Amino acid sequence: MKSLLNISDLSKTDFFEIINSIDIPSDFDNCLLNKNIGLIFEKNSTRTRLSFQVGINQLNGNFININLKDLNLDRIESFEDTFEIMACYLDCLVFRTVDHSKLKIAKKYFKKPVINALSDISHPCQAISDIFTLIEHFNRKDNFNIVWLGDLNNVLYSLIETIDFFESSYINIFTDKDIYKNKQRYFDISEKVNFLFDTDNKILANADCIMTDVYNSMNDRENKEKKLIKFQVNELLMNNTKKECIFMHCLPAKIGSEVTENVIKGSKSIVIQQAKNRMVTQKGILKWLDI
Ligand code: CP
Ligand code: NVA
Repeated sequence: MKSLLNISDLSKTDFFEIINSIDIPSDFDNCLLNKNIGLIFEKNSTRTRLSFQVGINQLNGNFININLKDLNLDRIESFEDTFEIMACYLDCLVFRTVDHSKLKIAKKYFKKPVINALSDISHPCQAISDIFTLIEHFNRKDNFNIVWLGDLNNVLYSLIETIDFFESSYINIFTDKDIYKNKQRYFDISEKVNFLFDTDNKILANADCIMTDVYNSMNDRENKEKKLIKFQVNELLMNNTKKECIFMHCLPAKIGSEVTENVIKGSKSIVIQQAKNRMVTQKGILKWLDI
């Protein structure tokens, strides 16, 4: 049974099967006919929620919004039993959670496809969509020189997990040394990723894409603004990049914090295209799952 909890659930072939299927919308039409997909969002969501809802509609499936608070979880029933019961009615679960271990419980007891719609650890749907956006924008399948600035978080983790699927793509990460020390064991997972604790103009000059995300993710306890503000993506920083270099952000952004308004609304920013591609990617993922 296929599931998508992390990018590591995908082989290189699976990954490119999803990416390549995104070009063929006509292939999708009826693949979710008579299928019922449960959506559980323990945290807020605009893009992921709506792109799954509309994507499922376009594939002629049904989505059921599930609020965990409405179930019998708090009262008496365990997560394990709840997921087992859900599988009596549903064909797939899309689950955004505060705690990645709940996704593992879901996968074990639901026993049908489970999609991670973002957890504290990872955001695989975002990473697949962002790679698709890079491929679409540059019209090539490799040779991406990505520079990430700021926090080491779920979005970055999934992006790093994709990098070994490419021969000649790299990620340089500008971040705070203390944050790196705390998270090194999770994030130091590829030789194609380089961590730096100061911005480096030579690296910026070679970048195809500048990426960032909020300094404080949903449910983060520590406020990292002071540690990370020196990595703000502003006009001064973007002036060090080449003409073709683009700016990406998974959104929502905290404008004035990790990115300035001039950059996110500027000519190098492709954040709207990036958000738009979430829906075609969700459809590619749903098709790959073969529900
Ligand atoms: N990028 C992203 O996952 O956005 P939402 O939190 O709005 O779903
Ligand atoms: N890192 C952010 C991503 C939101 C889409 C968060 O987890 O809040």
